[in-house]
Parts: sequence; C-alpha cells; structure tokens
Amino acid sequence: MEVARGYSLRQHNTFGVDAQAAFFARVQTPAELAALLEDPELRGAPRLVLGGGSNILFTRDFDGLVIENAIEGIRVLAREGDTAVVEAGAGVVWHDLVLFCVEHDLGGLENLALIPGRVGASPIQNVGAYGVEIKDVFESLEAMEIATGRVRTFRLEECRFGYRNSVFKQEAKGRYIILAVRFRLTTREHRLNLGYAALASLRPTPTTIRDVCEAVIAIRRSKLPDPAELGNAGSFFKNPEVSLEQYAALKAAHPGLVAYPSEGGMKLAAGWLIEQCGWKGKRVGNVGAHARQALVIVNYGGATGAEILDFARQVQASVAARFGVALQTEVNII
Ligand code: FAD
Ligand code: EPU
Repeated sequence: MEVARGYSLRQHNTFGVDAQAAFFARVQTPAELAALLEDPELRGAPRLVLGGGSNILFTRDFDGLVIENAIEGIRVLAREGDTAVVEAGAGVVWHDLVLFCVEHDLGGLENLALIPGRVGASPIQNVGAYGVEIKDVFESLEAMEIATGRVRTFRLEECRFGYRNSVFKQEAKGRYIILAVRFRLTTREHRLNLGYAALASLRPTPTTIRDVCEAVIAIRRSKLPDPAELGNAGSFFKNPEVSLEQYAALKAAHPGLVAYPSEGGMKLAAGWLIEQCGWKGKRVGNVGAHARQALVIVNYGGATGAEILDFARQVQASVAARFGVALQTEVNII
C-alpha cells in the first residue's frame, strides 16, 4: 500500500474543490488499514476517512492522513424466515449495493437508490430518502477504533440513529473507521414504502421493489444535479426541526410554509425557506443555490471551499433574519 504526500483531493470530493492532504492512502482490506494506523512515520498525524466525498466540504488543506476506504465485497449472510442479512464492505458504492439487493429480490433499500457515496458512510448520518432511513433496515456494523486498532461491533441501539444523525457524529466522532455494514432485508412479502408524496402519487402504483427503485431513480434525476456535471454535496443543510408552537406561529405569519410532522414537532422544508429568501437559482461568483432545489449549493466551477462556505453563511443569515430559524449544515465541513 502506497502513502502519497502532498496529494490533491479534488477528485475525492463531489464539490470538486481543491485541497491538499499531507498524506493520502487507499485501503482495500482491514489488515491494510491496521498496518497503516500503526505506521510509525504517521503516528500522531490527524486522520480523516473518506468514502466517495459526497458529503464533505474542504475549506482548507488537511495537514494529516486522509484514508480512502475501498474495502469491497457484498455477501448474503444468514437467511432466517422471511428475512436475510446482507453485509457490504465500507468501500462498496452505495447504489451498487441497492442494485445488488433489487437484483437478488432483497427488499428494504430500494427507496435509497442513487444516493451517492459508499456503504461505510451510510451510518454516519443515517442516510435517508423517500420515506426510508438506514436505521429502518440496519442490523449491525464493524468498526476499527483508530486509537487502538481494535475492531468492535455496533448494534442498532448503540448507533443512536436520528434524523441525519448518529453516535458517529456525536461522542464517537472521528474515533472509528467503519469496515462493513449489515442490513436485515426481506426475502418475500416485501413491505413497499410508498408513503412519500412523490411515490404515493405515481400511476400505475409501483408493485415491486424494482418499480420503487426505478421510480426513485427517475425522481432524483429530475431534480438533483449530477455531481459529475455540477459540483455539489446534495442538501447543504438539514431540514430544521421546530416545536409545534413555533410551527404554528410561523405558519400564521407565512401560510405557504412547507412542513412535515417529526418526532415531537415539525420538520420545515429548508428548501422552501431558502427559496423564499430569494436564493433559488441565484449565483454569487462561482457558487449558487440550485435552480431546481434551493437546498443544494453548487460549484459552477473553480469555487474554493471557503467561497462555498461563505455563500452558505449568507443563506443561513437571511433565513435566520426572515424566519428566526437556524439552519444547521448537513455537509461535513473540514
Ligand atoms: P464522504 O463524503 O466520503 O464522508 C462523509 C462523512 O463520513 C465524513 O465525515 C467522513 O469522514 C465519514 N466517513 C466516510 N466513510 C467512513 C467510514 N468508512 N468510517 C467512518 N467514517 C466515515 N444523503 C442522504 O442521506 N440522502 C440523500 O437523499 C442524499 N442525496 C444526495 C444527493 C447528491 C447529489 C449528493 C452529492 C449527496 C447526497 N447525499 C444524500 C449525501 C451523501 O450522499 C451521503 O451522506 C453519503 O452517505 C456520503 O457518502 P460518502 O462515501 O461520499 O461519504
Ligand atoms: N421546496 C421548495 N423549494 C425548493 C426545494 C424544496 O419550496 O427549492 C419545498 C417543496 O415544497 C418540496 C419540499 O420542499 O415539496 C421538499 O423538497 P424535496 O422533496 O426535494 O425534499 P427535501 O426536504 O428538500 C430531503 C432530504 C434529501 C432527500 C429528499 C427525499 C434533507 C436535508 N434532505 O430533501 O436528502 O433526498 O428529502 O427524501 O433531509 C441529502 O441529504 O443530501 C438529500 C438530498
């Protein structure tokens, strides 16, 4: 395994911004990773793990070791009754796993088709889309502790999944490298999840997991920019969660407000808030809010991470001034 020095990360983040890693290595097995963590030359260097770089914004160079997790492999482990456990290496491309499951008639991941990135990052923010989050089908994961090289299992409760949140964004942040993730999927009598409005309104109604997968792909292609054509990291901010009282006050002042029930309160559509502030389709230099989805900040080419962050701060300030709502970043800022 080679350790590169002064390595450009431009090809490793979907914003396409340039940043240098002091050291960079690509690991394909847990043994390679363990050896890398023990390398005496790199001891003490800060570490950052990357999958596909589709939820990260580099605003500076990284003066440490960037590890690309490229551990491959998909296996169907146990079949029990109407379910099976599928294990995927952290480096497997997420959408390839979804397609594998649809091909093998394993149900549960089809609503999560076409989310960019790799399997190893999916538990970090409990990826979700179109009415499903990975916590709904999660079985367990294996992770290596960076400080000790020890491998341990995390079960569902230990991951403390929430909306775009997990233990890996809180107490365990930066402490573990995920090696493999297991999902419990249905092998027959799949429970199609068509609750999301864009799926509920489809005619003819989807009847198979393949139908759902194809519908989700089509919906996503119609509104989200392809990072291969326009740099972005999906939703830049989370949809803010507010109390029922705050929601009622906002709704009275802004009758068009878009919101959905969430645990104990309401989740506001950040895209709507941003659009109302006049940002949709607006461009400042090389940065802008996407014309079809204001929640997606895009790099028109040549923007620096600092410029993108500055644009995001302006969006946050105007939403706070107009609605009194604080937008939190979903993207990991380095
Ligand atoms: P990276 O960007 O490489 O890393 C993200 C974070 O996870 C970093 O903090 C990194 O250090 C950490 N990390 C990565 N791999 C590991 C590992 N093996 N062990 C420990 N830590 C790790 N997300 C959704 O939830 N729903 C969506 O619908 C959605 N749509 C998107 C659409 C577009 C067009 C884009 C560009 C992004 C979208 N995203 C969405 C965000 C993104 O795809 C997910 O967050 C994805 O899981 C990121 O995977 P990645 O491998 O690219 O992670
Ligand atoms: N809206 C606007 N203007 C906009 C964008 C959205 O008014 O410019 C309003 C519309 O009323 C729309 C509603 O907001 O119906 C919701 O928009 P959309 O269906 O596009 O979903 P979202 O809430 O903006 C969330 C996730 C996405 C995920 C989709 C589908 C977050 C932060 N984002 O977006 O995830 O794909 O739902 O489930 O929760 C990501 O995390 O990167 C991501 C793309």
